[in-house]
Amino acid sequence: MTQATRALEEHFNRLIEADQRVEPRDWMPEGYRKTLIRQIAQHAHSEIIGMQPEGNWITRAPSLRRKAILIAKVQDEAGHGLYLYSAAETLGVSRAELLDLLHAGKQKYSSIFNYPTLTWADVGAIGWLVDGAAITNQVPLCRCSYGPYARAMVRICKEESFHQRQGFEILYTLSHGTPEQKAMAQDAVNRWYWPSLMMFGPPDEESKHSAQSMAWKIKRHSNDELRQKFVDMIVPQAEALGLTLPDPDLKWNPERGHYDFGLIDWDEFYEVLKGNGPCNRQRMEHRRRAHEEGAWVREAALAYARKQEERARKEQAA
Ligand SMILES: [Fe+2]
Ligand SMILES: [Fe+2]
Repeated sequence: MTQATRALEEHFNRLIEADQRVEPRDWMPEGYRKTLIRQIAQHAHSEIIGMQPEGNWITRAPSLRRKAILIAKVQDEAGHGLYLYSAAETLGVSRAELLDLLHAGKQKYSSIFNYPTLTWADVGAIGWLVDGAAITNQVPLCRCSYGPYARAMVRICKEESFHQRQGFEILYTLSHGTPEQKAMAQDAVNRWYWPSLMMFGPPDEESKHSAQSMAWKIKRHSNDELRQKFVDMIVPQAEALGLTLPDPDLKWNPERGHYDFGLIDWDEFYEVLKGNGPCNRQRMEHRRRAHEEGAWVREAALAYARKQEERARKEQAA
């Protein structure tokens, strides 16, 4: 390592230690850059793949009001994808490259979106549990050491909290409706509860990226800490909804000051991660098709940008 690099590295370490932000202009270790690209890309991919299970219900929303809300929510998720791809681009990769990696199966998205949305109540359960878990994960990322990622998260978290409330409100309405509607809400919660706990990733002792990410202050809390926080948050919310969570071992533990909960089926988690979840194939096919069918839009946008640029150049020359 040259003396110049050593000085740059010391500067980077000082920034991290002082809890300041690393910006795109700053020198950073290759591992830090790579970790961030992997994490931000996976996050961006999750936002846009996550549009599919909910988009499935736009045409069948039970009222115009529900439809307008769902369209706005799905559109928010597209926006989150855009903020995040832009944040990743500050690290020296392009959005096109990241999408190619997703389509080639070389980058991942959150496994939760490989589960199907069988009824309207699933839209409620996703908002309440999936967006709820996302917020728990993402609020600490607003203090992430990489500036562009941290700033994108601030805006995303504000929108996610609306998403969680709209999900809660859908479930609340159903659970106070007819017995059939209440049963539909309960069924959706039964199916989404365990996958939402898996969203925090494997248990701490199996999580291979965690220690380094914590040292770099990309991550602020461990997977198990965040999972516990989420369970503690949703138990009273489930009571308010008049619904139960499908875990017989769920119980308040006064000594720990937290809810104890049952064992997660990690075999299921790894199966879905490997590509064998109920909708993995469908999600990827749909994504690739949407990308191909959108090629003319990208070409037209580029042609338009070029034309504008040329016009500006001519005007300047005149
Ligand atoms: Fe989102
Ligand atoms: Fe969301």
